[in-house]
Amino acid sequence: AATGFLGVARTVEAKSKAKAAGTPEVIAQPIANGVKAATFDLAERPTALPCFDGKTLPLWTFEEGTTFPIVRLKLGERFDTVFKNNLPVAGEVATIHWHGLRIPNDQDGVPYMTQQPIPPGAEGRYSFVPPDTGSFFFHTHCNSTEHFGRGLAGVLIVEGDEITPPDAEYVLLMKDWRIGPDGAFLPFTTDEGAARSGTAGTVRSVNGERSPVITVPSSADVRIRFYNLDPTRVSEIGFENAEAAIIAVDGNGVPPMPLESWRLGSAMRLDVLLRTAPRGKSVKLFDYFSKEPFVLAEFKSEGPAKRKGKFKATPLKVMPFAKLDEANAERIPIEFSATPTGAALADSVANSGIEIGPLCLSKHTFWAINKQAWPGHEHKDLGPPLAVLKAGNSYIFELKNTTPRAHPIHIHGHTFEVLNSSVRRIPRVRCDTVLLLPNERIEVGFVAGDPGKWMFHCHILEHQEAGMMGYFEVV
Ligand code: C2O
Ligand code: CU
Repeated sequence: AATGFLGVARTVEAKSKAKAAGTPEVIAQPIANGVKAATFDLAERPTALPCFDGKTLPLWTFEEGTTFPIVRLKLGERFDTVFKNNLPVAGEVATIHWHGLRIPNDQDGVPYMTQQPIPPGAEGRYSFVPPDTGSFFFHTHCNSTEHFGRGLAGVLIVEGDEITPPDAEYVLLMKDWRIGPDGAFLPFTTDEGAARSGTAGTVRSVNGERSPVITVPSSADVRIRFYNLDPTRVSEIGFENAEAAIIAVDGNGVPPMPLESWRLGSAMRLDVLLRTAPRGKSVKLFDYFSKEPFVLAEFKSEGPAKRKGKFKATPLKVMPFAKLDEANAERIPIEFSATPTGAALADSVANSGIEIGPLCLSKHTFWAINKQAWPGHEHKDLGPPLAVLKAGNSYIFELKNTTPRAHPIHIHGHTFEVLNSSVRRIPRVRCDTVLLLPNERIEVGFVAGDPGKWMFHCHILEHQEAGMMGYFEVV
């Protein structure tokens, strides 16, 4: 079936759910009872997305025919994947990290730490049963700024959390692209950007389009899975003149809360139930974070009305998690700071505009966690862990941002509860990535899970690559 998005994709399951123009398709094939499989072929594919204005760009994608593939599993199903690294650059290694999934450490896809990276021409494999429902995604964990910059990411959805099925479901992927006036990619990183809030894209997109108009059923309750797949931008999403409720944060069901607006830093997700407009009318989705509210998408209602009554969101099923023992949890302070080089560069005007060639790879460290800047951009050269935790014990990380930038802080293999903030009221949500605002302190609590080395880093990928990453070890 043609998706209207990125050409032809394989549809392997009859889907009752309405599809938005612009929603990529399922790619996981059932191979046995309770097992689905996919084969990825990581390669360069010249692609002309609608937001590229007719230009073709050398994207790197997981498979032919779709830019951001969607894997849909049912809770309890195993997912088996083989990936071939056919990336076009000598020495361009890859792994796949399953962002947000609580799967065994050896499936976590972190080069040198949980596995050897896969060189071009070779194959890697993963097999796991996701323990939780929700909206997750996957990406390589190598040369991340360039890989994300070229579009190398996919969506993984684990179904089975709905008590009341919505009238339709949509996946919205927000991402900026760094395209120059000549229609070619700009360098994916600059020292100037890396030392500040990241090197911003020049073209915004939602599902590969600029501010798409998405057709939805009229007066219906539709589920929208929002993904911020930009390695830099913070968006604050909200609807104008519409009733909507937040039903999950980073895939984790929450008691429905009215959506006023919600900030999504890099890698953060939000599931929303929206009551669509009456037939012929539309609802606009805005980003309120930019100076002028920006229209990200428009949901245009067509066809007969689906619902009459008052809008009321049913909660999603919430997955079982080990309960945090807040009173007895061990507290671990974790400070996010700039290195002296980073602070100096961020302050200096003289240095603005430097770009590092060819397309990527800053050699500098600008950022640190607990004064330790992870050296060398890659994941080799492991320093000591930020902390050693005991499986089953409760921990509270006291996250402290001593920089003037926001940092979306991501934990691997776990989710934490956001307990409090020094500057704002945050609902107590469970998530895998929390946005730490400038000079903010946030406490997050969790129970240490499976043994292994788990990454803990800023998901502004230039910050990560310029030092703001670390890991903790569960024993
Ligand atoms: Cu999506 Cu280590 O992260
Ligand atoms: Cu950061």
